[in-house]
Amino acid sequence: MNLKTAVTRREHFNAAHRLHNKNWSDEQNRGVFGKCNNPNYHGHNYELEVKVIGFINEDTGYVIDTKMLSDLIKINVLEKFDHKNLNMDVEEFKNLNPTAENIAMVIYRIIRPLIEKQYELKIKLYETPRNFVEIPY
Ligand code: NI
Repeated sequence: MNLKTAVTRREHFNAAHRLHNKNWSDEQNRGVFGKCNNPNYHGHNYELEVKVIGFINEDTGYVIDTKMLSDLIKINVLEKFDHKNLNMDVEEFKNLNPTAENIAMVIYRIIRPLIEKQYELKIKLYETPRNFVEIPY
């Protein structure tokens, strides 16, 4: 019997951001984004969970090698995001508001092509211990 199995790698990064819609007035931005619109940015300790779903390989006993998955996340996501100002330092957010939703979507787009097609991929991103987003859902 070979059931679909999920393997999750948890990683961490911290980064600064500012939520802002440049098409809106300052007042409108403050109204919608509150403290997250602070002009001088603020930081979060993000917890990232990358879940790979597939079948257990008979030869290895693995769904996916977690060391390989960990390296892939480190090289392609953490080196890009960790200790960065997302608005200023990360190309993807030059014209995209770095909400948890959009950060998770960008991470999905980075990792999806790097994982073989036979696997499903789910991203869970905690912006605070109480707030997290999941994509795709
Ligand atoms: Ni924030």
